[in-house]
Amino acid sequence: MIFDFLTIFPEFFVSPLQEGIIRRALNDGKVEVRIHNIREYATDRHRMTDDRPFGGGEGMVMKPEPLAACLQSARTAGLRSRVVLLSPVGQRFTQRTAERLTGYDQLILVCGRYEGVDERFRERYVDEELSIGDYVLTGGELAALVVLDAMIRLLPGVLGCGESAVNDSFSCGLLKHRQYTRPRVFEGMAVPDVLFSGDHAAVARHRLLESVTLTLQRRPDLLSAMTFTPAERKILRQAGLLAQVEAAVEAMTSEDLK
Ligand code: ADE
Repeated sequence: MIFDFLTIFPEFFVSPLQEGIIRRALNDGKVEVRIHNIREYATDRHRMTDDRPFGGGEGMVMKPEPLAACLQSARTAGLRSRVVLLSPVGQRFTQRTAERLTGYDQLILVCGRYEGVDERFRERYVDEELSIGDYVLTGGELAALVVLDAMIRLLPGVLGCGESAVNDSFSCGLLKHRQYTRPRVFEGMAVPDVLFSGDHAAVARHRLLESVTLTLQRRPDLLSAMTFTPAERKILRQAGLLAQVEAAVEAMTSEDLK
């Protein structure tokens, strides 16, 4: 998959692309990343990429022409591509969004700056506008890197054996269970015995209960979208958690109806 970043701060991307799994995926040719400097597509004498907003107001707005020219140059003919604008007024980026976007060959991530981009560029060229959360960053660069990071681990062959994304938080709709490694006792705290039992079903049961408990405590909103298998429901019922899950879902539903 190809990721194209359109930015006025190309240096932003240097170090994040040189570390860990992203670096390995790039070196192995599993993904290609191309950084495009929007400023190079500004045609005026001062290479301006922003200007004052019509109608007045604070800050600067990114001009449409350099963005459009930069985008045309980033597009590769014949690829199924998607143009994404990162901005605080976008739809929330989630694990589902990450999964969906892996269906394209090329993702073009437009990093907005200042007070936003000219609306006509968005209307003509942007397929979707995404926000990574309810806070305002100084620009879309970090958000675009978050999108790359979340997506890269879903691409075939990027994670090695034992690094599977299948049991991630969110991928199955629950927060992930806690993890332990050596030593068996740390500062007086012991690892749960069941993890040494060699009983895979018991370990799976323990982890399901941990996941559900954590999700109930921290993100009960996630439970409304969950469907548990009959076997899972039985485990939850035996542990006294099924009623709590149902109450949490009920509370979310009545919250929605308010
Ligand atoms: N640009 C500024 N804030 C942002 C956010 N929360 N998500 C995506 N892009 C942004």
